[in-house]
Amino acid sequence: MNAPQIYQQRFQASPEFSVRAPGRVNLIGEHIDYNGGHVLPFAIAKGIEIAATPRKDGLFRLYAAQFDETYEGPLAAAKTADRFWSNYVFGVIHEFEKLGHSVPGLDAVIDGDIPLSSGLSSSAALEVGTAWLLQQILGTNLTRMEIAQLGQRAENRYVGVNCGIMDQAASALGQAGRALLLDCNSLQFEQPALELKGEVVLVVAHSGIRRGLSHSAYNERRGACDAAIDAIRQETGKKISCLCEASLEDLEASKAILDNERYHRARHAITEEQRVRETVQALAKCDYQRVGELLNASHFSLRDDYDVSCPELDELTARIRQYPGTLGSRLTGAGFGGCTVSLVKVDAAEGLMEDLKKNYYEAHGMEALVFATASEEGVRTI
Ligand code: GLA
Repeated sequence: MNAPQIYQQRFQASPEFSVRAPGRVNLIGEHIDYNGGHVLPFAIAKGIEIAATPRKDGLFRLYAAQFDETYEGPLAAAKTADRFWSNYVFGVIHEFEKLGHSVPGLDAVIDGDIPLSSGLSSSAALEVGTAWLLQQILGTNLTRMEIAQLGQRAENRYVGVNCGIMDQAASALGQAGRALLLDCNSLQFEQPALELKGEVVLVVAHSGIRRGLSHSAYNERRGACDAAIDAIRQETGKKISCLCEASLEDLEASKAILDNERYHRARHAITEEQRVRETVQALAKCDYQRVGELLNASHFSLRDDYDVSCPELDELTARIRQYPGTLGSRLTGAGFGGCTVSLVKVDAAEGLMEDLKKNYYEAHGMEALVFATASEEGVRTI
């Protein structure tokens, strides 16, 4: 991946600005960012790059190297279902315009190495990368959190996906060797070390299932959680600001007025919040055994209570779990396909990846996509 070089070839000039924004893996805290919970993602080495030069004539000439597709035209004509990638770029441009900035035009090349629909947040990386690029071009002073929020608004309003803040925050705020512990209610955050002391390593493995058609299911889950918190407030009479602030006792007390589905969705959110807190403590003590147990418990809760797993994610995590040296494994991201994250003893990682290539990917006739990953720096100018 080298957007500046492709830009040079395509436009016969050097780009004035180049940026790089990472994808993310969420270690734990799944489907609770929009429930005001704590999440623990980190930025990864895979990401997107944008090389660009502003134009003065209102024309946008964008080239997405990963798809070999272009958009050429004015801002007004930009929204289209065909070039889905350009909606992320224009969504961000619209958000800057709403803040009173005008973006006159752009020649740009976008390239990326995050597999699409894999649960590794290629869209958030593109939004955050575009926002960082415009910040450089326009000379604005948005904080990294404001960049993340702007990216989220672009996705909510322009792309039409009602996502939470986690992915954009991880891409904007990531730090090498650290995770992001984000309180999605207050937006306060800490960046605890994620160095893993050379004992264990995080392995990401794709289920081979692309997360197609998951937006409606995602919105349904959000709806069930919103209904659950209303019911809990009503039944307990407590002023609870978000679902992750409720306790299991509150939930049990409200069981009579919750239907089965809402009860289970809420139980996932409430228990997942507890697991995040415990994971942070276990990581601080280098108690990787416990971290692994919590990752497993998170997966089972996402499978049984939240119902966002699929047979391939279950099979893959089960296979990883039974490999000697694995401490825990779970789906990461929205689910319905996409990737898993697993905590594995360092000397078992190579063997595990070989095992998966043969016994999971080859066995299913799927292309292997498995790699060990560390936490990397967030969006930056290159
Ligand atoms: C997607 C969304 C995030 C988050 C996760 C699930 O990645 O973009 O905001 O809700 O799903 O944890």
